[in-house]
Parts: sequence; C-alpha cells; structure tokens
Amino acid sequence: MDKFYTTTAIDYVNGAPHIGHAYEKILTDVIYRHFSQRTDNAYMLTGTDEHGIKIQKTSAEIGISPKEFCDMNAQKFIDAWKLLDINYSQFIRTTDEQHTKAVQKIFKKLLEKGDIYKNSYTGLYCSGCEAFLSEKDLDEDGCCPNHKKKPEVVSEENYFFKLTKYKDKIIKHIKENPDFIVPSFRANEVLNQLENIEDISVSRAKTNVNWGIDVLDDESQVIYVWIDALSNYITALGYDTENPSEKFKKYWPADVQVIGKDILKFHSIYWLALLMALDLPLPKHILAHGWITIDETKMSKSLGNAVSPKSVMESFNMTEPDAFRYYMATSAPCGKDGNYSDDDFKEKVNAHLANSMGNLLNRTLSMLVKYFDGEIKAEFIKENELFDKAKRTIEEVKHHFDYYEVAEAAQKIVELVDILNKYVTDNAPWTLAKEEKMTECGQVLYTVLECMCIVVSLIYPYCPTIAKNMAKQLKYDINTKLDNIKLSNIKEGKLISKEEIFPVFLRLDSELATNKK
Ligand code: MSP
Repeated sequence: MDKFYTTTAIDYVNGAPHIGHAYEKILTDVIYRHFSQRTDNAYMLTGTDEHGIKIQKTSAEIGISPKEFCDMNAQKFIDAWKLLDINYSQFIRTTDEQHTKAVQKIFKKLLEKGDIYKNSYTGLYCSGCEAFLSEKDLDEDGCCPNHKKKPEVVSEENYFFKLTKYKDKIIKHIKENPDFIVPSFRANEVLNQLENIEDISVSRAKTNVNWGIDVLDDESQVIYVWIDALSNYITALGYDTENPSEKFKKYWPADVQVIGKDILKFHSIYWLALLMALDLPLPKHILAHGWITIDETKMSKSLGNAVSPKSVMESFNMTEPDAFRYYMATSAPCGKDGNYSDDDFKEKVNAHLANSMGNLLNRTLSMLVKYFDGEIKAEFIKENELFDKAKRTIEEVKHHFDYYEVAEAAQKIVELVDILNKYVTDNAPWTLAKEEKMTECGQVLYTVLECMCIVVSLIYPYCPTIAKNMAKQLKYDINTKLDNIKLSNIKEGKLISKEEIFPVFLRLDSELATNKK
C-alpha cells in the first residue's frame, strides 16, 4: 500500500457538534490511524460546510455577519475534534479562499464544457437538506422525510448540471464495482434513486440566497451548496482545473470517503457525476455509516436531546477521550445504526478497557515485579502457540479494516484479550510461584506480555492514549508498522520496576476516576 486518503463529510456549522458528528469523525480517525500503521502516506481530511440559506438566516437572526457566525461555530468543531484526539491531516472550511477560487474554476470549466446550463425553474426546496426535492422524495404529508418540514416552492432562474448525461455511466460503475458502496446492501437503494434522476440546480439567485460562492462573470447567482461542498475533497488537496498540485496527484482518488447514510445519494450520484464531468478518477469506496441515536431516540435540535462529546467527557470526569472513542467506534456493525446510553457506555468500557485489557497488563506486570523484580530471564523466552493466535489476529483485524468493518475488527482484539485472560487463569502463575515452578511462571508472564504488544498496536487506532501508556510499560515501540510486528519485543533483562507500573484505564465509576479532574 503506497498511500491512503480518507475523508469525512464536512459538517454544517449552523449548530454545535453532537455525538452523531463525533461518531463519523471517530470512525474515520480510527480507519486513518489503522492505515497509518500500514503506510507512511496516509492522509485524513475533515472540515466544515459553511455556505447556504440556513447560515444566512441564523446569522441574521442573531445579528452578526455570516462569516463571523461561521468562524464562531467552526471553532466549536475544531475544539471538539481536539478533545476527541481526532488526528486529521487537514481541516478545510468552505469559506477558505483556496477552496472558493477552485470551486469557481470548477463551475466555469463545467459551464464551458456544456455540462452546466441556465434555465428557469420552479421547484420544492428543503432548506434542511439545502436541496431541491421532487414530489417522489416527499412523505405522505408532503414533507421532507428527513426534516419533517414542507419544502418551499421556489421559482428562480438557476444554473443546472447535466446529471442525466452521466446516469448510465454511474449505474455501470456501481454495478461493476459491487464493493464501491460500503456496505454493499445500500447499492440497490442508490440504483433505485438513479432511475428517477433529473438534472440538478447548482446555483441560487442572489435575491434569495446570497451567502455562497459567486458564479464568475454572473453577479446574479451564487453556487449552490452541494457543488461547493462536494468539491472540498479535491480542493483541499490543491486541485485546480488548470494546474493540479503534487499533493492532489499523490492522494487522489480517495481510498474511502466516510459519510452518513442520509447523504449517500449526494456522494454516490452527484459526486460521481461531477468527477466524471471533470475527467477525474472516482473514489475507491464510499462508506455510508448508520445513525447514532440517544437512548434509542433520534437526536435533533427540535427535540433538544443532542448530546455533545464534551458533555459526555465531563459527566464522567474523563481526561482522555479513549473510552468514548472506543465506545463510539464499536457502537454498530459496519453501516448499521448505533445507540449511545450512559449506562451502556460505562458498562462496556469498564468491562473491555478496565477489567479485561487494562487489568490484564497491570496484574501481569505486577507479578513480574513481585516474583522476578521486573526481570525477564532468558529461560522465560519461549515460543507459545498463543503467538500464532496473536499473529492471526493481526491478519483478521487487517482484513476487517480492508472492508472498513471497524467494530468487527475491535471484536477480534477483544477475543484475543479474552483468550489471554483465560490463559492466565488456566495457568495460574501465582500457583506456579507458590509451587516454586519459577521458570514456568516466568514463561506464562512472558507469553502474555509478548502478546500484549500486539494488543497495543491493534488497539492504538481506537484508544491512542491507553495504547501509548501500555507501550510505555512494555517498552514497546508503538510506531511499529503492522507488517513489521515480530513476536520478539520483550527482551531478556529488567523490563519494569514497581514505580513504573500504573493502571492504563480507570473504571469510570472508580473513586480514583471520579476524583481525577
Ligand atoms: N454539510 C453536509 C455534508 C456535506 S459533505 C460534502 C451535511 N452536514 S451535517 O452536519 O448535516 O452532517 C454531517 C455528517 O454527520 C453527515 O455525514 C451526517 O450523516 C452525519 N450525522 C449527523 N447526525 C448524525 C447522527 N445522529 N448519527 C450519525 N451521523 C450523523 O450533511
């Protein structure tokens, strides 16, 4: 693998980030970090989508300029991702000058090519979707099914993009590449939507919407959000219709573009058509994740039940985001909906991260100190059949990530940890020590510690801080690439002293965790 490029959807800045937005960024970050363990050239893009009628209206309501409003809210997303240790390579804002200019050129190129034309139009506009809807898209009450609001009737002169020109090519691409849409069960949905597509409006009259990117040479129109927003994936890399940058040539096409299932249509139809019109290669995969509910209820502004990642961290007095990252990343099988509940969160991370994984390392190291003063003796270092299981787990985890099955991959790590815990229980090193079978006792501890190095590497994308703290105690190089992992990390000699041992994750309800600020 010579490079890996992944992107998230860019979030609307009309509100603050909630854990649904966070889910997507965590999922993508875990994928990105995993592939960073397989290539030196991994790149992750995220950002904010800042134009459109909603921003224009909301900023006017509170009496500040749209740009000031965007600056204020974009910062909330940047802060939230910092809190969650999202290690993106680049954060793009659609108000960035480089993006704005590149979008204008893209529009111009398509206009010159004849793929964009002007037409007068009367349509049903949903400001929630920032899109025109057809009658067929509406529910039985005539409302947008996503926003439960009746769309406005809008009559305007607009520019249109010839989506229909690319219909057959898109259908062919989706049929010939069954793994293009992940999970593949969503492909049929898209193929059905393709049956009814029409050319799409790609600009708005400034008399109705003025917070957008100006169409070059036409002062009456601004570019409508989806052309603007979708282009971010290439403009961020420095795509320019005349002179694409080296970075663009290096990373495009994207390996996987992560988005929510609600915007799959835009990414598997509009986005493909746009790329085809620009004669650019298509992304290799679109991963459409499911929705996160709160206590099994849809999160929404109107219900007032949106939970911010910050409030979860604060209510559990967490100083590191690892537990929340782990919980979110494993909350649903690939593409399915997941749920957040405080009780389930606490129970799951206490069981997996504290009781199983953290405790295993802690008690193994403590025994090494108690019985051997923290020293690995030459006679402890011995092959064990568990090494094969550990090596197999690396391959299984890689295999799941090849299909972007992030939760399924974590399950393999949990299984390995469970096997190691069982091995300790079955072999009872404390009994071996009592019986003065010191070599056997040392061999059991060594086997576990060696396999724990693999656990460290595999858990790192989900829980980077915990993994680093485990690696520190094991004297293991966390930057080891997955393909270079050898089961010879634990060397003869002193590994650790009593003072160097510390718990890597405290149970969320433990007294220590609660007192820690
Ligand atoms: N701005 C557009 C995306 C443009 S991408 C070129 C948008 N923004 S959004 O803020 O509404 O949503 C951003 C991402 O968050 C989307 O992928 C969306 O699916 C995801 N989520 C928003 N709420 C969500 C949940 N409750 N659960 C999981 N993800 C959800 O759409």
